[in-house]
Amino acid sequence: MAQTLLKYKNVIFTLFIFSSLLEAQSHQFSRKLSSKSLGFKTEKLTHLHFYFHDTVTGDHPSAVRVVDTTSTNTPDTFFGDIFVIDDPLTVGPKPNSKIVGRAQGIYASASLSEIRLLMALNYVFVEGKYNGSTLSILGSNSVFSPVREMPIVGGSGLFRFARGYALAKTYFFNTSSGDAIVEYNVYVIHY
Ligand SMILES: *[C@@H]1O[C@H](CO)[C@@H](O)[C@H](O)[C@H]1NC(C)=O
Ligand SMILES: *[C@@H]1O[C@H](CO)[C@@H](O)[C@H](O)[C@H]1NC(C)=O
Repeated sequence: MAQTLLKYKNVIFTLFIFSSLLEAQSHQFSRKLSSKSLGFKTEKLTHLHFYFHDTVTGDHPSAVRVVDTTSTNTPDTFFGDIFVIDDPLTVGPKPNSKIVGRAQGIYASASLSEIRLLMALNYVFVEGKYNGSTLSILGSNSVFSPVREMPIVGGSGLFRFARGYALAKTYFFNTSSGDAIVEYNVYVIHY
């Protein structure tokens, strides 16, 4: 009796080891790949040029303030204010110029000593072969400096594995409404 039990124990143990090996094979957590096997062949550098229309006033604002600290905080720098945006990106500076994409995300006033924004947003492109591809921006934007640089930290679609930088230059700013048109030059390395 004891011997039969021992035999079963061995069989069960062997089955357990075997099924663990099978499990490891069919549910592999990680593996090494060549970049070519996913179609990533040569890296290229692309330059994109467009205008960003940030409209905070009027009947159809594309930027809305979702946190307003003006009554409680330092209005000098709007520290703590947060905007959610869906700003059109156009090929030329005029508001009715052809739309090539949209800037969707948030910017937040993140400095106590100057007007400096944390930009956390995606450019969602609709133009030509870039339709559906996105670039992600995470940067610091001192809006009254002549040129601001922000990192491109990633992308999707044609911009998979993207990295690069965006240079922002204010093209037009309405001091009474706060509406702005910003020229962007974006340099991005991708496959
Ligand atoms: C972009 O792609 C969407 C979804 O496939 C399509 O509906 C739209 O017409 C395309 N836009 C342009 C400008 O090609
Ligand atoms: C600036 O904004 C004010 C207030 O919204 C508006 O009346 C004026 O027309 C705007 N100026 C320009 C040049 O767009």
